[in-house]
Amino acid sequence: MDIQRIGVVGCGLMGSGIAQCAAEAGCQVLVKEADEALLAKGMARIQGAWDRAVAKGKVTADQRNGWTQNLQGTLAFPALAECDLVVEAIPELLALKLQTFTELDQVLKAEAILCTNTSSLSVAQISPVLAPHRLPRLAGLHFFNPVPVMPLVEIIRTLATAEDTLTALQGFVQRLGKTAIMAPDAPGFVVNRLLIPYLLDAIRCAEQRLATVEDIDTGMKLGCGHPMGPLHLSDFIGLDTMLSVAEVVFDAFGEPRFKAPSLLRQLVAAGRLGRKTGSGFYRWEGEKRMEAMPL
Ligand code: 3HC
Repeated sequence: MDIQRIGVVGCGLMGSGIAQCAAEAGCQVLVKEADEALLAKGMARIQGAWDRAVAKGKVTADQRNGWTQNLQGTLAFPALAECDLVVEAIPELLALKLQTFTELDQVLKAEAILCTNTSSLSVAQISPVLAPHRLPRLAGLHFFNPVPVMPLVEIIRTLATAEDTLTALQGFVQRLGKTAIMAPDAPGFVVNRLLIPYLLDAIRCAEQRLATVEDIDTGMKLGCGHPMGPLHLSDFIGLDTMLSVAEVVFDAFGEPRFKAPSLLRQLVAAGRLGRKTGSGFYRWEGEKRMEAMPL
């Protein structure tokens, strides 16, 4: 199946990144948001990225204009009716996702592929709200933040996902210039199952005052060649997101390494969610990481 028309539901950080990459790859992209303000914010984020690329001389204004023509917004599910693939990238609330897939089930053509970008929920949990003929067309498509930069996508198959759906998704990921790996529909998939316990351990090190926040980050950055230290990366991902993924994997496996440290819960309770709220392990000024904050 040739994927040309893409729907993206949710134009937050992940959704806008997915829409941006698909538009750059020459797909016709339709982004669905809940209201005008959210849609305008997401579209402005994408246009801002393209304007910066033009200003840096990485793309021409003509290329940017072509990408802009590939991208449209909507507030209505029926507008997605002709999409070949729809990727859901809304908040990690199962009830909200089920509502979204119920709507999609009603409007999409029979052969459309439905994907969720969930980082913690089970893809199969979506199945009950879909008509039985759609189950071979349901899969997970897990992108990484920042989507325009990170070259990996996990493709998650359920027991019902058809082979030709997986083949079509592999082709789509390749078209985005990214690399796909196949992941099981198990909590954390592959990457978060390995990444989250590492990040939680780094938080435990900070909690136990093993070293300062900066030194823990410098240690892993310079000692192991990671692009960001683990506490910096936790702020970057969002401490609320980290907590929700940790809770899902801990519930599933019960292993202490997946247990959220009390410090993570305290930071989330205090509204220190990382970059998105301007404070976490570090103080943030927009995209810029500033000094470590008191713990
Ligand atoms: N959005 C778009 N582009 C961005 C960006 C962003 N938020 N941040 C940086 N970039 C671009 C820059 O424009 C620059 O592009 P250029 O080279 O073409 O000019 C390039 O990325 C490099 O940026 P910088 O030189 O400013 O900074 P770095 O070299 O430090 O790279 C980084 C920034 C790519 C974010 C790098 O630090 C990194 O790879 N960090 C780790 C990110 C990571 O691990 N992500 C996965 C998180 S886990 C996840 O998403 C799963 C979820 O389920 C929890």
